Amino acid sequence: MTDSNKTATLTVHGETYELPVHSPTAGPDVIDIRKLYSDAGVFTYDPGFTSTASCDSTITYIDGEKGELLHRGYPIDQLAGKSHFLEVCYLLLYGELPQAKDLEQFETTITRHTMLHEQMQYFYRGFRRDAHPMAIMVGVVGAMSAFYHDSTDVSDPHQREVASHRLIAKMPTIAAWAYKYHIGQPFVYPRNDLDYASNFLRMCFAVPAEEYEVNPILSRAMDRILTLHADHEQNASTSTVRLASSSGANPFACIAAGVACLWGPAHGGANQACLEMLEEIGSVDRIPEYIDRAKDKNDPFRLMGFGHRVYKNFDPRATVMKQSADEVLELLGVENNPKLQVAKALEKQALEDPYFAEKKLFPNVDFYSGIILEAMGFPTSMFTPIFALSRTVGWVSQWKEMIADPQNKIGRPRQLYLGETNRDYVDIENR
Ligand code: CMC
Repeated sequence: MTDSNKTATLTVHGETYELPVHSPTAGPDVIDIRKLYSDAGVFTYDPGFTSTASCDSTITYIDGEKGELLHRGYPIDQLAGKSHFLEVCYLLLYGELPQAKDLEQFETTITRHTMLHEQMQYFYRGFRRDAHPMAIMVGVVGAMSAFYHDSTDVSDPHQREVASHRLIAKMPTIAAWAYKYHIGQPFVYPRNDLDYASNFLRMCFAVPAEEYEVNPILSRAMDRILTLHADHEQNASTSTVRLASSSGANPFACIAAGVACLWGPAHGGANQACLEMLEEIGSVDRIPEYIDRAKDKNDPFRLMGFGHRVYKNFDPRATVMKQSADEVLELLGVENNPKLQVAKALEKQALEDPYFAEKKLFPNVDFYSGIILEAMGFPTSMFTPIFALSRTVGWVSQWKEMIADPQNKIGRPRQLYLGETNRDYVDIENR
């Protein structure tokens, strides 16, 4: 943490307190209120954490006004264009771009950890046959702590490293098998001669009856989707992982908590919700009706894939994703995809509408990702599992950073209590 000589002055009940101010390498200054309760006897109040830095971190930086997303200082558009997912994983985990030999070793390690313990298949079979793949993922990722005991001791750096590799390596297999189970097809084992994205596509789409050739264009598009979702600083699911692990819980339990949080439609579930919305709108002429509904305070409907807590001008991931959607759909010969037409017209009409401009609501990463995934052959129920497998490296990197931090304390927020004060119990016959 960079200490500055700056302080902030706070007056509470007539008493003045000097609070230290920390200057980050980028972004706004941060007022340190850690001693506020012990010194002044008051809490701060910030539901939704709109003005709260919950930790210090060196992994990812977002400038919401500029639409900038940096991983370890590198802009996301450069990483999406020039790098690939496993290299970005290395960067997020270890802080620097790898040398060729380090990357080769990392890729080998990840590839060799992609198989699941054979007994995990029985665990899958306990789910109802039509279970949502995210429901299966929450359960299976949590169950990893029952299968990989030798990497659950968070005080041991070697076990933490092994758990990180296992999570990144096995998540595509877990997600692909959740899909296979969901559609009633046999599980497909990972193959060590394929890269990360191709392996995932094959485990999802191959069947034993015939050979499956991975289309390199789709594999590249999948890799880019993974890269664009890899990390996003202290978002809801990452904060969930950090809070869960602050108690010393094992990494598999913590990442399962992250998967559960990601599932919500305000977060990672937005990609499924967005595609379902585009389907429901159906044609360009119905867009004004939906825009009116999104603006109506009495209607809970929101434009899914629109808006972001941090980005207030554009989401840089959405820019790359839109280009990717155009490329993939053209290559697949489905550029007249009706949902893409509705999405483009909806984006245009919403951006021209003063409501969305005033509230700084722009398409986010989830606005176009579902269109690409659907064109690749994924059902909507797989969109959020794919987000979860991409974000695993972000969760793991943030978890590792937190555990290694000597200042790491259990997360324990306080509250503004508005309930009854102390009162005496009343016997049931006298109520
Ligand atoms: N459609 C219509 N109005 C909206 C939308 C939307 N998508 N998003 C926000 N608003 C309005 C909202 O009604 C509120 O209006 P008012 O100030 O009059 O009450 C204002 O904009 C601010 O909204 P908020 O809910 O207070 O903002 P937030 O920062 O708490 O929420 C959000 C951010 C992403 C949850 C929200 O924009 C949303 O629900 N978007 C749709 C879901 C979505 O696409 N989520 C994916 C986020 S990106 C992927 C990820 O990282 O998870």
